[in-house]
Amino acid sequence: MRILVIGGGGREHAIVSALSRSAHQPELFCTPGNGGTAELATNVEIDIEDPATIVAWVEMNPVDLVVVGPEVPLVVGLANLLAVIGVPCFGPKAAGAEIEGSKIFAKDLMARHGIPTGKAEAFDVKEDALKYLEEQGVPIVVKADGLAAGKGVTVAMDIEAARNAITACFEGEFGEAGEVVVIEEYLEGPECSLLAFTDGTTVLPMLPAQDHKRAYDGDQGPNTGGMGVYTPVPVVDEATRAEMVSILERTVAGMASEGIDYRGVLYGGFILTADGPKVLEFNARFGDPETQVVLPLLKTDLVDVMLATVEKRLSEITLEWSDDAAVSVVLASGGYPGSYTKEIPIDGVAEANQVPGVTVFHAGTMLKDGALVTNGGRVLNVTAIAPTMAEARTRAYEAADKISFLGMEYRTDIGLKALQALGEA
Ligand code: GLY
Repeated sequence: MRILVIGGGGREHAIVSALSRSAHQPELFCTPGNGGTAELATNVEIDIEDPATIVAWVEMNPVDLVVVGPEVPLVVGLANLLAVIGVPCFGPKAAGAEIEGSKIFAKDLMARHGIPTGKAEAFDVKEDALKYLEEQGVPIVVKADGLAAGKGVTVAMDIEAARNAITACFEGEFGEAGEVVVIEEYLEGPECSLLAFTDGTTVLPMLPAQDHKRAYDGDQGPNTGGMGVYTPVPVVDEATRAEMVSILERTVAGMASEGIDYRGVLYGGFILTADGPKVLEFNARFGDPETQVVLPLLKTDLVDVMLATVEKRLSEITLEWSDDAAVSVVLASGGYPGSYTKEIPIDGVAEANQVPGVTVFHAGTMLKDGALVTNGGRVLNVTAIAPTMAEARTRAYEAADKISFLGMEYRTDIGLKALQALGEA
């Protein structure tokens, strides 16, 4: 069996790593991949945002399955093109990926199917958006409608920040993605991600995970793609989890009732309000960095799960999970999420991988003349598994301390909220 994984971040290293543990012993390809996937797969150079190029590669290099990590190839219709040439794709077609590609599409879908979420209005004229802002007041959330690599969302606590966010969208900071602006009610409560495998009918939830989107300790600083994550999430009790699962099931059923055949991962970004979980966003793919703590705890063969997903027989699968805790700390380039320098030598990854329970997933890395160097904002995801959250946290930071590169930055409080909720901090 030959499998092509699309993407080159920590998420894709975690996917490749889980696939490499499969009893099917697949031959793995990853594009563009990174310094970590290079150890488990053949990295290939393809323009992953151009689906025609991927299809051309697959025609020359037949594979049994394509697994799509990032959202852009899905939103531009990679799964549709692969269907035309009969290649199974783990990831929805463009109609389903719209749930991530357009916030307005997602909001309208939720409204049609009674999915709890914050009140929102969309604007394509700046003055109308500013007028609505004055009426609503702060705190409030301003979002570019389209894809903006996690950077198009501003949680504005004061009116000036909200005005600036609206202006930035209309002045083109996020390109076409910001031509329409969604202004959304601010919801209060802890955030939690729950991802599920779905074949459009059956929904199999993964483990709840809590991401840390802000750059600095104490949830301060600008939003990032995610600075660290942990699972399990103690604030998610069984009733809350059941409601989150029900929301994912109702969303998949809602899409199916509208003729959307959704196969892949549905990612629910939830906020746990006093009135129960509400949807902040949906994504049409695995989360990054959520995948780096969730997939290492999956005991079921990931190839079997993915094949069952694309072949619409997920009802045959029972997911089995380890009871361990997992913590992943993102090591980032100095300056991230702003500008940063690339190609800085990285030391200590092999030593970090020696810490019991630790796997260092590569994100923005590459090999240059045989040496590992930085190649992105989020560079490495130091992931530790242990029987307790406290031990997982200790192991993750012990391993992170063994790694160094010039300008390296990371949050020191990943998993702390879990310990606080458990009364252990
Ligand atoms: N963890 C945020 C995301 O995957 O979009």
